[in-house]
Amino acid sequence: NIVKIVGREILDSRGMPTVEVEVWTEFGGYGNAKVPSGASTGANEALELRDEDSKRYNGKGVLKAVKNVNDKIAPKLIGLEVADQLTLDNTMLKLDGTEFKKNLGANAILGVSLACARAAANELDMPLWKYIGGVSGHILPVPMLNVINGGAHADSAIDFQEFMIMPVGAKTFSQAVQWASETFQALKSLLKSKGDITAVGDEGGFAPNFAWAYKNNSLDEFKAKTPVEVALDLLVEAIEKAGYKAGKDGIMIAMDCANSELYFDDKLYHFKKIEKLTGQKWALTSDEMVSFLEKLVAKYPIISIEDGLAESDWNGFAKLTAQIGNKVQIVGDDLFTTNPKYIKEGIAKKAANSTLIKLNQIGTLSETIEAIQMTQKAGWTAVVSHRSGETEDSTIADLVVAFNAGEIKTGSMSRSDRIAKYNRLLEIESELGENAIYPGMDAFYNLQN
Ligand code: PGA
Ligand code: ZN
Repeated sequence: NIVKIVGREILDSRGMPTVEVEVWTEFGGYGNAKVPSGASTGANEALELRDEDSKRYNGKGVLKAVKNVNDKIAPKLIGLEVADQLTLDNTMLKLDGTEFKKNLGANAILGVSLACARAAANELDMPLWKYIGGVSGHILPVPMLNVINGGAHADSAIDFQEFMIMPVGAKTFSQAVQWASETFQALKSLLKSKGDITAVGDEGGFAPNFAWAYKNNSLDEFKAKTPVEVALDLLVEAIEKAGYKAGKDGIMIAMDCANSELYFDDKLYHFKKIEKLTGQKWALTSDEMVSFLEKLVAKYPIISIEDGLAESDWNGFAKLTAQIGNKVQIVGDDLFTTNPKYIKEGIAKKAANSTLIKLNQIGTLSETIEAIQMTQKAGWTAVVSHRSGETEDSTIADLVVAFNAGEIKTGSMSRSDRIAKYNRLLEIESELGENAIYPGMDAFYNLQN
């Protein structure tokens, strides 16, 4: 049984406050969890409770959430069985009483939920992946590595948020990590040779300005070749420079357009960064965005597109899925916010064929499990994901193996907050030994390969 729960304010990878929770049990179990935080958040995410006290951390403190852990949640959970995850989570949901966790805060609730799971695993002397996944977890994920950052994550010239590499042709997870690291280094020297910036964005990818790719920054020039295409060309070049093939027997490309960020009241997708550079408007309709993405897929080895449309543009999502969803993974992030209610709607409307899974979008481990199971039951894939604000907490590495989800999105090959997850997966790979499976292209059972 749980004997003690302590919450405190710590910092995330952006130096912003976040919640840490520790849990102790009667028989010596101990669990610790640190909660992540997003920047390009979906409108329907559970509430991240911030203090709004401008005298501390510009209002971003989390002392209220911490107080909720210590004064409200702890007294209700102390004495309960630590392994009874559903009861623990439901007790917190009842105590909060709102759909989007507005009273206690999803940061408070998730911290406790995950620290309890860790304490239960620790009490049983089991790794977390085995505690959650039982005897079935044995598939290591294909990593989706965000090596070029744009959008809300970086001051780069690129409107889409993330350009990722997926080493689908590797034979093992450790080999995938090696290929990814070598490609990341090749990309760095390519950018250097062009005189571009090699500083990194929030998720450890490069944030280039592409000044070398444009002569006069005119709108015509940007339309002829968008920064998105410059980024994709660079990725292909970096993959080949590292000695691999850009394709299914080597490394494929994934994008997170995060297009909710480009969509405004006029129902148009504005290339905001291009508009800023040229001083001229350039926006696409939903149909035009679908065609733009289709053209990219025809031209580049793209296997996955996340948030290719805005979270409110369900018709656009359904259209994109109908057009290219048999050969490209269409992932809903802002669209679903890991919420079983919206995932169910998405399955009915055929709005995607994959769900991005972010624990703090929904706020408890139990609801996250429900979201993953609903997704997989529909024949869709579940991509387990970090947030742009992270910590050294590596829970998602264990979670992706527990559910044999097959894909993880956890940033680039730099910054310890990102590498912590890859390192944890390397540990799990060796814990599994010969039983570890790296799925490669088989991870995409949602597509017709
Ligand atoms: P976020 O970005 O954590 O800033 O929301 C990640 C994503 O959009 O997938
Ligand atoms: Zn996203």
